[in-house]
Amino acid sequence: MLTNVSVNLYKSIFCMDFKLTEEQLMIQQAAREFTQQQCLPGVIERDEKQIVPKEQLIQLADLGFLGMMASTNYGGAGMDTISYVLAMEEISKVDSSVSVAMSVNNSLVCWGLEYFGNEDQKLKYLTPLAQGKKDNELYIGAFLLSEPEAGSDATHQHTNAVDMGDHYVINGIKNWITNGSTASVYLVIAQTDYTKGHKGINAFIVEKNSPGVSVGPKENKMGIRGSDTHAISFTDVKVPIENRIGEEGFGFNFAMKTLNGGRIGIAAQALGIASGAYELALAYSKERKTFGKPIHEHQAIQFKLAEMATKIETARLLCYKAAWEKDNHLDYTTSAAMAKLHASDTAMWVTTEAVQIHGGYGFVKEFHVERLMRDAKITQIYEGTSEIQKMVIGRNITK
Ligand code: CAA
Repeated sequence: MLTNVSVNLYKSIFCMDFKLTEEQLMIQQAAREFTQQQCLPGVIERDEKQIVPKEQLIQLADLGFLGMMASTNYGGAGMDTISYVLAMEEISKVDSSVSVAMSVNNSLVCWGLEYFGNEDQKLKYLTPLAQGKKDNELYIGAFLLSEPEAGSDATHQHTNAVDMGDHYVINGIKNWITNGSTASVYLVIAQTDYTKGHKGINAFIVEKNSPGVSVGPKENKMGIRGSDTHAISFTDVKVPIENRIGEEGFGFNFAMKTLNGGRIGIAAQALGIASGAYELALAYSKERKTFGKPIHEHQAIQFKLAEMATKIETARLLCYKAAWEKDNHLDYTTSAAMAKLHASDTAMWVTTEAVQIHGGYGFVKEFHVERLMRDAKITQIYEGTSEIQKMVIGRNITK
């Protein structure tokens, strides 16, 4: 007879399924086609010129990729997080400047609004954000937490939001904002009551065209050069009280809970960068000959490829597990941090080895591995550095 323990064990063994569903495979294929047809041609030139054309983002909107996980009631595609991970992975194999715009809108903006916004906020803002369009124009959002003196130490917000009764007045500067100039809507984290620490922080929906909002110049970056990164400043910006997300003082918890999902998106991006570099290195190792044979026949190269494939597979399993936990309403904080930590380290290591396998060709811009290596670096930094992920994991496993 089966005991409760053995029934649970039985279930946990037989519930494990590594097969993707038909729908997930279709989404992966759609993302692959978009990447090959729209992202690959001209990606080197766009990286050089630091641009992502708006048309590319509009095509993503048309595919339903800007609000993948948002429910269909609010303009979203109603897909699961695994599908989102698959799409992020495919696009990031080629162009992470595009995938980061998609990731921020999906995980940080739409998800945050769907889970913590009220009905009016969802109808007014989430619906066009999830569609990625309003009046036939691109309509996306940005997430404004980081500041010049509050990056990893995010509870120390200098941007303040003074409570004026029926509205708040926001002053301060936000840094490193993805979608900074293209976004129409900002989710802004700001301190209202400094005596209450992180419980005195609020989150607001701020329209970019509000008087007093100003967008700084585009950052000239090492990687993801096309992505739209700016500092945004707020001078006496009036925000109606109905644009506060959640109860008074919920802003920091809103940011943290939202970032957990964001970390799955960036883990998937890192996984894509690593996979893209690995696929290029594998193909090159079959073409390039030294000492009378293709270089993949040399053990030195074969060992590198074996290690790359193994690290990528472990990163993929961590990403899928975190996504699966999120889809099954389990606590995914630790898994998301582990996925991001491991996938971003994998991306950095694999891209460096991919350049090494390409030799001198890997060091020039015509061969994509050079760009992928530069793009990999940011995945160890944004949406929580690797050190912050270790803090999150360490605190959770020891509490
Ligand atoms: N999930 C849910 N809740 C969390 C959390 C998490 N991952 N991390 C912290 N919290 C909660 C805590 O439980 C605590 O809740 P209570 O209100 O119940 O007390 C609260 O947040 C405060 O946490 P701590 O006491 O642990 O605060 P701390 O100051 O010691 O540490 C931190 C906080 C974890 C270091 C946090 O500041 C952090 O995550 N920093 C990194 C910020 C970050 O990821 N920035 C990325 C910027 S966004 C970006 O890059 C977007 C882009 O454009 C690409």
